[in-house]
Parts: sequence; structure tokens; C-alpha cells
Amino acid sequence: MALEIIRSIREMQSIADNLRFDKKRIGVVPTMGYLHDGHASLIQAASDISDSVIVTLFVNPKQFAAHEDLSRYPRDFDKDCKIAEQAGAHFLFAPSDEEMYPNGFATSISISGITQKFEGFFRPSHFDGVATVVTKLLLATKPHIAVFGQKDYQQTLVIKRLVADLNLDVEVYIKPTIRETEGLAMSSRNVYLSETERIQSLVISQAVTDAYTAVESGERNREQLNTILKTTLLSIEHIEIEYAVTANAETLEEPDIFTETESIVFLIAVKIGSTRLIDNAVWNPRQTN
Ligand code: PAF
Repeated sequence: MALEIIRSIREMQSIADNLRFDKKRIGVVPTMGYLHDGHASLIQAASDISDSVIVTLFVNPKQFAAHEDLSRYPRDFDKDCKIAEQAGAHFLFAPSDEEMYPNGFATSISISGITQKFEGFFRPSHFDGVATVVTKLLLATKPHIAVFGQKDYQQTLVIKRLVADLNLDVEVYIKPTIRETEGLAMSSRNVYLSETERIQSLVISQAVTDAYTAVESGERNREQLNTILKTTLLSIEHIEIEYAVTANAETLEEPDIFTETESIVFLIAVKIGSTRLIDNAVWNPRQTN
């Protein structure tokens, strides 16, 4: 079946109603477009566990601050259609800004706690924008399952909180980050990097790998782990660290010493040149026992 492009929320909802009436399991993969192999892996994962896959493509203005890269965010609609279709999508829901946020739109969903630190500290209204748009996308597509990438780790926690708190009837799946062969986490924003910056940016995945290895060797002191992250990052010049932190992977709490049974996440946001990049890795005690 060829990819069907849907622009209107009403039409998307009516397609979803018909699919549900036909007992089809709907999977959704929310994206901001400029799709790459990371998105393709999420679409394939959705297609493995659902009958009809909807990819949403919407560059959500509400999750960008005024000084951020909304106007230059990369876009390639035709390529996105090809990648989505090849990966197994049946529908591409690509509403306009006016369709999503018509005149008079006044609602914002705000989640406290986990949204306040790290990414939320540097991008204060970002997670309100994410929570608001994800809710609208779920209400438009009425999925049984929704698939997100681990690359935006804090976002995945925010979305799980949103779904639990609002009793949204959707199962959330988080799939691993897909990386370039040298380790750089795939991101639509990687296109901003010059060749030199792309090589420099390898320190980011190296930093989380170094901290992960230290935990495997028994290190549980948070400050020590943060020092490992920062030392690796600072091995290149011209890097601006926003945060390079170690936290409990479920709560984002930051104890001085992690217990032996705690899942640990390493979270990084840096600027290389004018490009802001994030990455993370989760160490899970159950995986190594
Ligand atoms: O991860 C993204 O691409 C976006 O934050 C999302 C979830 C599509 C909401 O705009």
C-alpha cells in the first residue's frame, strides 16, 4: 500500500476510527521530519508490533525557544515520504502549524519534577511544548502503541509521565539510539556539522562509553562519573558543555553514591560550533548480572 499523506486532524481521526473499527492495531511514530536511519528503525519497530503505522511529521514551534533553530530546522518532505514508506509506514500525518495551533489556541500541558533539570533547565519551555504536541498527536492518530527513540532520554521519561498521569490509552515503546559507524548518535541536526566538527563530536559517544565502562568496573561515585564524562568531552577544543551528568535512570535523582541495584543514566548536551548535540547511555544492573 502506497503511503497516504494526511493533512487534516479530522481526516486523521476518522481514518484511525475506521482502522480501530476493523480491529487494526495502530502504531504511531512521532517525528519532526528530516528522517534518518534512527527514525527508520522506529518505524520498522512500530511495523513489527502493529498493523497500521502512522508517522507524524510536524516541526513543533512550541518546543523551540525564540533563539533556537526553528527557522533553519532541516526539512525534506519528499525524502521523508520515501524513508517512511520504505520503513513500513502506511500514513504520514503532516499537519500545518495552523491546523495544530489555530487562532485562539490557549492550552499548554505542563509536567513538573523531571522536566525542571538538565534539558529542562537549559530549554525552560521545551517540555511543555513536547507534552502539548505529543498529546495532540496521540489524540489525532488514536494509536494503540507509540514508539520513541532513546536518543531524547529525558523526553522519553516526560512522555511516560504524561501518558500515566493523563491515563492516555497507549503503550509507549522506547527503542535504542541508532549511531553512525564511528559512534555519533543519529540526529536530524547532525547536518549542521562541518566535517571537522563531525569528527570532534565523536567525543560525546566516547564520554558516555567511558562512564559506562567505569560503572561496569564498579565506580558508583556520581562526582567521579561526572568527571569522567567531562574529561573526555574536554579532550577537544571549542566544546561548550551545557550538562554532562549522571543520574538515576528512572527518577533523574542525583545521589552522591549510586546503589548496586540502581539503573544509571549518563546525559550529555554540548555545543560544538553552533550545533547543539545530546546523547546518553543507560547502565542497567539487570543486563550485566
Ligand atoms: O523527538 C521529537 O522528534 C519531538 O520532540 C516529538 C516527540 C516528535 C514532538 O515534537
